Amino acid sequence: VSIPPYLILSDNPRKTIDGVIARFQPDKVAVLVDENTRQYCLPLLELSVPVIEIKSGEQHKNIHTCTEVWKALTDFQFTRNSLLINLGGGVIGDLGGFAAATFKRGIRFVQMPTTLLSMVDASIGGKLGVDFNGLKNHIGVFQLPGSVIVWDGFLRTLSKRELRSGFAEMLKHGLISDAQYWNELKSHDFNSGDWKNLIQKSVEIKGRVVEADPMEQGLRKILNFGHTIGHAIESALLETGDALLHGEAIAAGMVMEAHLSFQRGMLSQMELDGITDTVRKIFGGVKLPEGEKLIALIQQDKKNRDGRLNFSLLAGIGKSEPDQPVNRTEIELSFSYYEQAIR
Ligand SMILES: NC(=O)c1ccc[n+]([C@@H]2O[C@H](COP(=O)([O-])OP(=O)(O)OC[C@H]3O[C@@H](n4cnc5c(N)ncnc54)[C@H](O)[C@@H]3O)[C@@H](O)[C@H]2O)c1
Ligand SMILES: [Zn+2]
Repeated sequence: VSIPPYLILSDNPRKTIDGVIARFQPDKVAVLVDENTRQYCLPLLELSVPVIEIKSGEQHKNIHTCTEVWKALTDFQFTRNSLLINLGGGVIGDLGGFAAATFKRGIRFVQMPTTLLSMVDASIGGKLGVDFNGLKNHIGVFQLPGSVIVWDGFLRTLSKRELRSGFAEMLKHGLISDAQYWNELKSHDFNSGDWKNLIQKSVEIKGRVVEADPMEQGLRKILNFGHTIGHAIESALLETGDALLHGEAIAAGMVMEAHLSFQRGMLSQMELDGITDTVRKIFGGVKLPEGEKLIALIQQDKKNRDGRLNFSLLAGIGKSEPDQPVNRTEIELSFSYYEQAIR
């Protein structure tokens, strides 16, 4: 399997970024960081270009922060021929990419993801944007980066909890499209620090799916496995003291959506058990918000048409089916399954 040409898996990010800059011949270059990637990642690149720093965290992924970036680019006298390097996790990539894609109708940008989640997910596929009025990714565009430079060395300073969150998306990649990869992931030793091969597989899978369906009209929906219920859990817990990282909510969502697949006869008992055991081992169980609240949030989910609840479900390990209609009773059963199987 090959990966799209703009994706570079690098062993030497300093050399790779130099090469990309030499190839693009920009008149100006700047790098966007947050306080953490400035401290932990920027020094490893030894770049001698102006730095734009924003505050870390999802709460800063908004249009106000974006105007700060536009302002900095204006101060640096960026032109249509300049280049922005986004060095950070998904927040930096989504916001920096959006700022670049809209500045003077679009300048080139390079994603240098520094979290596991952004390496295997956020930096691939060209979705860019910011949150607005409490709604996630409400304002944004599709635009492919000039390059994505993936170097697993950045993960050395990432917390275990953030690593685990990104790992949930990798588990999803295995479940929806590659049974052998799923088996490899199940036996991965978290403390080994050996991520390169696994990252490559995930990048290939996500790269392949988004290339087949860049604008999310069909196939790309399979990437939503675990996300319909997962997002509802994530949103319901957002304002509470038990907020979850994205991948933690998705892991729970995958167990419940695997159970939906099981109820519809698409997944065997053994396959369901395998998924539940793996998630339990890595993530433990989370305390679910109240069922009514979750269902209300699921109903708001943007991918539902005509009032039906549509899910991307598994049709065996390594295969998935988008647009599977599911009713309320089935969803409630999946909640009780999770409660008794995991907690
Ligand atoms: N565009 C897409 O297709 C897509 C897909 C999935 C997620 N996303 C978006 O990605 C965002 C989440 O991304 P994330 O999980 O990377 O979160 P993040 O960008 O908030 O990074 C998590 C934390 O880790 C810190 N950090 C980053 N790299 C580090 C490193 N190497 N060492 C130490 N600390 C480091 C950051 O400063 C931050 O505090 C969300 O906004 C989500 O909407 C986008
Ligand atoms: Zn996700």
